[in-house]
Amino acid sequence: MIAIGVPAEGNDEPRIGLTPETVKKLVKAGAEVTVRSGAGQRSHFSDADYAAAGAKIAESDEEAVGGADVVLTVRRPQLSLAKTMKKGAAVVGMVDPFSDAEGLDALAKTGISLFAMELMPRISRAQTMDVLSSQSNLAGYKAVVDAAAAFERALPMMMTAAGTVPAAKVFVMGVGVAGLQAIATARRLGAIITATDVRPAVKEQVASLGAKFIAVEDEEFKQAETSGGYAKEMSDAYKKKQAELVAEHVKNQDIVITTALIPGRPAPKLISKAMIESMKPGSIIVDLAVERGGNAELAKPGEIVTHNGVRIFGKLNLPGLVPVNASSLYARNLQAFVDPLIDKEKKTLAVNWDDELVKGTLIVRDGAIVNGAIAERLGIKPAAGNGAKAPAKKASAKRAPKGETT
Ligand code: NAI
Repeated sequence: MIAIGVPAEGNDEPRIGLTPETVKKLVKAGAEVTVRSGAGQRSHFSDADYAAAGAKIAESDEEAVGGADVVLTVRRPQLSLAKTMKKGAAVVGMVDPFSDAEGLDALAKTGISLFAMELMPRISRAQTMDVLSSQSNLAGYKAVVDAAAAFERALPMMMTAAGTVPAAKVFVMGVGVAGLQAIATARRLGAIITATDVRPAVKEQVASLGAKFIAVEDEEFKQAETSGGYAKEMSDAYKKKQAELVAEHVKNQDIVITTALIPGRPAPKLISKAMIESMKPGSIIVDLAVERGGNAELAKPGEIVTHNGVRIFGKLNLPGLVPVNASSLYARNLQAFVDPLIDKEKKTLAVNWDDELVKGTLIVRDGAIVNGAIAERLGIKPAAGNGAKAPAKKASAKRAPKGETT
């Protein structure tokens, strides 16, 4: 019987990669699931809920993962815990594959197989496993809700006997999964929304959500989307034109949500200190790209910086602030990935190492790093078995955006 183990996450991670719902599915697929007591508590899943769904409850992390063929985590597991896992155990999580390569190398030496869900190829078969989308969507929502709560004025226009309260102006920069949800959320709250991106495909999506699109729409803009559906790094000339446009626009905005990312590169700097200084006191910037260097010049990871009365939110792990939904969606992503790794008849782990999704996400196997890009950072040759060179690119980005239409 295949054993699946789930340890508790660290103090700074409220999410969990297993829910009672996914326990049922995994048990049905032939697995024996063990979860560390209390591991789901911060997402409001109790031990009793897990037990009722068919999981065993372990009193320690070591007990939860010690006999496991598959370990489901949110973050990269601690080295000390990985040492207690079985050789060849498949550890699946959002393991931040491009940071701390040395730490990753040490994990590799324990003999586990490590799968980075962030590297899931964005092909249609893998849509249910797309953790970047499931989590970014919630981050976009939470960014707007946080900003609205901190903003000392109302978002919707209100016409009262004592006079009219004007609608707040929200500007969303970078309209991928997070940006689309930020627009949809701000719209429900009654704000007037503008949005920008460098990919032309976004224009229509922004309009369909009831927001106004603004961008430098030159020849370079028309070519800015890669075949994978992501943004390219723009030329200096484009950046200059974009900065002029943004400078003019941003000074009249009340709330700015930035989400702009370029795969494998630092986040583009879109809001300079001078632009921040041009904004009205009381305005708010929420920088969702802060973990990758930030889109706003003064943003600091994990902090709220106040400059000339403008607050710049650099909160980390926004999906973790909506842990119930984030865990539910993430656990479904993991279950969808793990299910095909189970031989339903023999009830054993049966990984097809040639499968595109396995190859795309596998970064550590048999004591070595098997992902080309990570090995490159360590200055070593990747072990054979995985040709992945860079962060995964989508084969098709033409799927409908996830932000809901209103
Ligand atoms: P992301 O997180 O890599 O980047 C966020 C946004 O920032 C993107 O829209 C990007 O174009 C924009 N950006 C980058 N540089 C910028 C700049 N200098 N100025 C302004 N904006 C800039 O993107 P995410 O959220 O992963 O989505 C990218 C695309 O992929 C979207 O079209 C999304 O709908 C699509 N998608 C497709 C999936 C599939 O086919 N399975 C799954 C998820 C998303």
